[in-house]
Amino acid sequence: MTFAPVAPTIAVPPVKIASDTYVIQQVQPALGQPLFVYINSMVILGEEPVIVDTGTPANRKQWLEDVFSLVEPEDVRWVFLSHDDVDHTGNLDQVMTACPNAKLVCNWAMVERHTNCFDFPIDRCRWVMHDESFSVGDRTLHAVRPPVYDSPTTRGLFDPTTGVYWGVDSFATPLPDPHMPIADLDPEFWRFGMTLFAFGAVSPWLAMVDHDKFGRLVDTVQGLDITTIASCHSPVLEGPLIPQAFDQIRAFPSISPPPLPDQSVLDQIIAATAVPEA
Ligand SMILES: [Fe+2]
Ligand SMILES: [Fe+2]
Repeated sequence: MTFAPVAPTIAVPPVKIASDTYVIQQVQPALGQPLFVYINSMVILGEEPVIVDTGTPANRKQWLEDVFSLVEPEDVRWVFLSHDDVDHTGNLDQVMTACPNAKLVCNWAMVERHTNCFDFPIDRCRWVMHDESFSVGDRTLHAVRPPVYDSPTTRGLFDPTTGVYWGVDSFATPLPDPHMPIADLDPEFWRFGMTLFAFGAVSPWLAMVDHDKFGRLVDTVQGLDITTIASCHSPVLEGPLIPQAFDQIRAFPSISPPPLPDQSVLDQIIAATAVPEA
């Protein structure tokens, strides 16, 4: 018995979301469901260009082409790593090799956790913690931890010159159509998708947090002067979608965690994808 191959990444070109700011997009089909998941990163083309997260190994060729169609490798001055997960660090080695003038914005915990699979060039590193800032020439970027996250190393990135906030793994949702903007998504499906991903794939600890304390954390992030939210696992959010997204996140501690796919679902997937021997 053989099995149908997992569907490949769907190529989606970079999209400009603000002045000097582009989202590098990748869409991954969900396993066993007719759903799709974005795996994004970002490029800020200022006086000192910044790459924000580094995509996945599965999309390496396209990701490198997309990024370096926007900026010459030797012009990249900063690589901001939000945290140490493979969908955010997938081409880190390739980027640091291709971009000899780039410093790596990371932190101590990231080095401790990720040094087993990446040889951090310590003399090229800059450690930036949550609530700290760094200058990239024509702007100062602020590292602000998003309310939903799956690694203690996580910091989002706020650019006050454009109002763009990189929300990392917050705001994650599957989509029924890889090209569907959130504004066209059924609001109930969006709420379900964000809840499923938040509890099931990112932050199961949400069920244990104090509702009021968590609400104040969400208020702090929402209190940034955000006009656009880009994140790894969602299309871009703008306008009224931003307060709606924060409201959904603020409610997480009072929501019962949804059931997740279990072995019976895996059995169904295996049965559905089995291909009889010729
Ligand atoms: Fe993550
Ligand atoms: Fe992620």
